[in-house]
Amino acid sequence: MGVFRSLFFLSQVILINLLSFTVSSNQMIDYFCNNSSSNTYQTNRDTLLASLSNKTNKYGYSSSSEGVNPDTVHAMALCRADVELDTCRECINNATAMLGSCRVARVPTGWPEYDPNDMEGIVWYDYCMVRYSRKAMEGVLAGDPRVYAWNVQKNATSVEPFKDALRNLLMNDLRVRAAKGGTRRKFDSGNAPGPDNIPIYAFTQCTPDLSKQECEDCLQQAIEDIPNCCGFGPVGGRVLKPSCNFRYENASFLMVIPDLGNENNTRTRTIIIIVASVTTSVIFVIVSFFIILRLRKKNQGDYPGKPRTYVEGKF
Ligand SMILES: *[C@@H]1O[C@H](CO)[C@@H](O)[C@H](O)[C@H]1NC(C)=O
Ligand SMILES: *[C@@H]1O[C@H](CO)[C@@H](O)[C@H](O)[C@H]1NC(C)=O
Ligand SMILES: *[C@@H]1O[C@H](CO)[C@@H](O)[C@H](O)[C@H]1NC(C)=O
Ligand SMILES: *[C@@H]1O[C@H](CO)[C@@H](O)[C@H](O)[C@H]1NC(C)=O
Ligand SMILES: *[C@@H]1O[C@H](CO)[C@@H](O)[C@H](O)[C@H]1NC(C)=O
Ligand SMILES: *[C@@H]1O[C@H](CO)[C@@H](O)[C@H](O)[C@H]1NC(C)=O
Repeated sequence: MGVFRSLFFLSQVILINLLSFTVSSNQMIDYFCNNSSSNTYQTNRDTLLASLSNKTNKYGYSSSSEGVNPDTVHAMALCRADVELDTCRECINNATAMLGSCRVARVPTGWPEYDPNDMEGIVWYDYCMVRYSRKAMEGVLAGDPRVYAWNVQKNATSVEPFKDALRNLLMNDLRVRAAKGGTRRKFDSGNAPGPDNIPIYAFTQCTPDLSKQECEDCLQQAIEDIPNCCGFGPVGGRVLKPSCNFRYENASFLMVIPDLGNENNTRTRTIIIIVASVTTSVIFVIVSFFIILRLRKKNQGDYPGKPRTYVEGKF
């Protein structure tokens, strides 16, 4: 009886997760770009962007450059840590296609360091970010251009306590832990209870080329932007910068984060995976049954974080 009950409970938990997988998707959040007047630069950029996805490592990161001065192009791609490599590469391909097709310049007004001669471009998706510039970017903290996005479906009722809990989770916990991530991946996720029974799920991420200190600084600036982004207390929000970003929602929105860390443990892990896959198969059959039932009844809703974005005019 107890076993059945917990199995049922487990299947419900997985069901909810699977449902949120099916309704979540990779959306473009925002972009900036400009077509170059230099044919050489443009050719270099297109070659470089086309190769980025293949160069992306299993941590979802790549950084490279192409061409010689004055037409050198530098580019970088970064995926969210829970995105599988195949999907990550697909996202990067979509992102580079998007940037490559830029005809009409779109640049944020009031971006203090903006220099048309840098011939920069950047695009953010839910799953990945791709940027290019004539300026070298590896190991350089870039705080702009930035984008804010928030969940338009619900606001917290106790706005100030909510923001305090959010800030505490992001600033004191996730920011510090992401920065400690090492040279391959700087990402961390977690959750905390908020007021009025609104849980807060969040992640923070830096490009792994930043130092620990630079990552902490970048995220600190991003988190201090919450009043500009999300001061009115939406239950979900994001601040996206070239070098770092964070997102929070009132429900879990990440997929399973692959453990790429310690490669000495493969033997133990294999056993765990075998045990887990047998269990999973059994649960999967049960769960599939419920999903079919559920999908029949329910049409797909919006996933919790569907954003509306805007670009702040006065950075
Ligand atoms: C786009 O780039 C060109 C140079 O290729 C520059 O002259 C122009 O000012 C840029 N547009 C904007 C809006 O920055
Ligand atoms: C922009 O891109 C297109 C195609 O890549 C190219 O034909 C055009 O000359 C480029 N430059 C400008 C300044 O529009
Ligand atoms: C990327 O890799 C795929 C498969 O290995 C290959 O078909 C494709 O040509 C490669 N693309 C580039 C630009 O190297
Ligand atoms: C890439 O773009 C294609 C075509 O628009 C879309 O079907 C696919 O879902 C996209 N993939 C990702 C990972 O964004
Ligand atoms: C959330 O608050 C903002 C600002 O007060 C308001 O414009 C928006 O309509 C609210 N959204 C909801 C879903 O209540
Ligand atoms: C989370 O927000 C969604 C809207 O995005 C809302 O439907 C849901 O009830 C909220 N859940 C909680 C626990 O506040």
